[in-house]
Amino acid sequence: MSFPIQRGRRLRRSEAIRQMVRETELSPSDFIYPLFVTEGRGVRRPVTSMPGIYNLSIENAVEEARQAHSLGVPAVILFGIPDRKDAKGSGAYASDGVVQRAISELKQSIPALQVIADVCLCEYTDHGHCGVLSGQDVQNDATLPLLAQMAVTCAKAGADIIAPSDMMDGRVGIIRKALDEARFDSVPILSYAAKYASGFYGPFREAAQSSPKVGDRRGYQMDPANAREAIKEVLTDIEEGADMVMVKPALSYLDVIWRVKQQVNVPVAAYNVSGEYSLVKAAAQNGWIDYSRIMLEILTSIKRAGADLILTYHALDAARLL
Ligand code: PBG
Repeated sequence: MSFPIQRGRRLRRSEAIRQMVRETELSPSDFIYPLFVTEGRGVRRPVTSMPGIYNLSIENAVEEARQAHSLGVPAVILFGIPDRKDAKGSGAYASDGVVQRAISELKQSIPALQVIADVCLCEYTDHGHCGVLSGQDVQNDATLPLLAQMAVTCAKAGADIIAPSDMMDGRVGIIRKALDEARFDSVPILSYAAKYASGFYGPFREAAQSSPKVGDRRGYQMDPANAREAIKEVLTDIEEGADMVMVKPALSYLDVIWRVKQQVNVPVAAYNVSGEYSLVKAAAQNGWIDYSRIMLEILTSIKRAGADLILTYHALDAARLL
């Protein structure tokens, strides 16, 4: 049956009816807001390539998180920027590391806020890779205990969720075991399960000062051309104990989000990454696009593709509009 019986426009005639038949509804409670936490006091250093995003000292990160929380955003994810980096990334798993202190301050100040710890070595190593090196090679198995130690120190500091983003094989299993042994059996793991080797992380690496000095991350992050492999990664992580899985980046990978959502019955997160944010901000600053409209359209597309949770630098801007 079709025209003139079928007229799609009947259900588009007013905002009221459009709202009644809308399939996807965005809400501030979908968002997770990333924060870059740095040493010192009174620091609010703009990230040049990410307008509106800052490196924040701990007390300023608490203020920023308070704003997010009061806008209805339930969670933040933390990235630490230590003063000193070394070959083994020891700042990542020090019990008094910048991220561990930030977690404990945040939990004391805003107990209801969910604090997620990103677990990875790249912000803490002087070479910028996500694991320890032997020559130019990132050592998978030697990195695992360090990641486990980072997860446990973050949980001790009060982290509600542990989110490994390093893409070493076996890290979810090792982290689960370490958390359980340290009696953090109720702390869930959100694994960056399908994380691609992406050019869209460029601005993050400025924000976190974490670009690899030599080589790149293609030896551990996924090839952007592969989608079936994402399913394999996701299923492996769930078998190892992941409670939630992530696809990252989001926009060039909406098909991957969709496929993952069809395959698993755990919550699916998507990371609307730094480069995706910067493109929109830059075009908006030039007056070329309607920022609010495009932001909401992008976030809606990520949710429509199947994401239950969206990590996004737009969280505050979007929450204010919703
Ligand atoms: C690794 C990590 C990265 C991002 C989140 N966790 C960077 C990378 O793999 O180079 C990127 C996030 C973004 O681009 O917004 N710790």
